[in-house]
Amino acid sequence: MPSTLIKNIGAIIGVQSKPSSFKKGAAMSVVETIENAYILIEGDTISAFGSMENMPERADIIIDAEAGLVMPCWCDSHTHIVFAEGREGEYVDRLKGVSYEEIAKKGGGILNSANKLHLKSEDALYESAFNRLNEVIGMGTGAIEIKSGYGLSTESELKILKVIRRLKENSSATIKSTFLGAHAIPMQYKEDRQKYIDLVIHEMLPLVAGEGLADYCDVFCDKGFFTVSESDQILKSAAKYGLKAKIHANELAISGGVQVGIANNAISVDHLEAIGQEEIDALKYADTIPTVLPSCSFFLHIHDAPARRMIDEGLGIAIATDYNPGSSPSGNIPLLMALACNNMRLIPSEAFNGVTINGAFAMELGESHGSISIGKKANLIITKAIPSLDYFVYAFGSNHIHKVLLNGKVVNNA
Ligand code: NIG
Ligand code: FE
Repeated sequence: MPSTLIKNIGAIIGVQSKPSSFKKGAAMSVVETIENAYILIEGDTISAFGSMENMPERADIIIDAEAGLVMPCWCDSHTHIVFAEGREGEYVDRLKGVSYEEIAKKGGGILNSANKLHLKSEDALYESAFNRLNEVIGMGTGAIEIKSGYGLSTESELKILKVIRRLKENSSATIKSTFLGAHAIPMQYKEDRQKYIDLVIHEMLPLVAGEGLADYCDVFCDKGFFTVSESDQILKSAAKYGLKAKIHANELAISGGVQVGIANNAISVDHLEAIGQEEIDALKYADTIPTVLPSCSFFLHIHDAPARRMIDEGLGIAIATDYNPGSSPSGNIPLLMALACNNMRLIPSEAFNGVTINGAFAMELGESHGSISIGKKANLIITKAIPSLDYFVYAFGSNHIHKVLLNGKVVNNA
């Protein structure tokens, strides 16, 4: 097992002693730091770290951080990066005043993406998704959840999930796969919604679970998409196959999505742009992780989730990109942190915990990812020589990333 030593680190940002913990409330603003430090990696695992004066003398490979910061790679717990094409035409329509919901009602939006995806081969989808994945790895992402949901037929949903399986096999990023057959009701089922839901439950789910193609099952529980009782049916059926729940909830309206997510022991409830006190209170007594998506609010020009209030009331949140062609065509986590700070009024340390350790927990990777801890995966970002995490977020237009290591190996070099 080769050892790698990173020396002359300006500061290690995001240290945690094991077992590492999900950060809630005031703890979200705490980021443990060691200045003037080294990290030792054995194989793909962090084996030691500390201040430079205690640095080991030997290692097979030595990387000089040249006073850059070292942080854990980002853990992006919500994306849809397997899609056929961008939807820049709809973007321009929205800029001219047509709403996201109007576009969706006319068969645009998710249905537009599904029509395009239907025509693409698995290989073509794999190639474009692999490129997107490499792009976000270059921006520091080391673990990522990827959803299906632009298929909306058995054949196309399986095609997407097989693409995700190939990404898992071939990428050095850690990947979780989510089945989102209930992303929208296809046009041909508009008059018989239950028929589509039955297809999801009785045809898609058994095949997805039978082939081990997904870790989670998600539903878009919102106004104009799936109702609370439809979501409940689907998530309960998924649980019978051992698929835990995640849920898109309360993006467009107070939908009851948070409550049905919690009732189904969802790992996370995501979006939350339209939540009130009742939902916040319900989350206080649940293990379900509220996940906010600031670049979706930015791009759709809708309310931000009340992340500041949620943290002030003691909740811990994960922050994810939602990288997809309709509501967030960006997987850029450094930019996402700037949006979370500026638009949601978080401070950089809270944004950092949202996209690292809390994001890891939102993919059930909290024990192996999301912090600099002995025994965790050596998924690390080395920055250029910048003064601090605050500066990293503040100077939002610059690329501060110098190197990214996944599983202990450098995968990019800026
Ligand atoms: O998370 N809200 C539902 N699904 C995706 C976007 C869907 C789309 O517009 O393509 C989201 O925002
Ligand atoms: Fe999404």
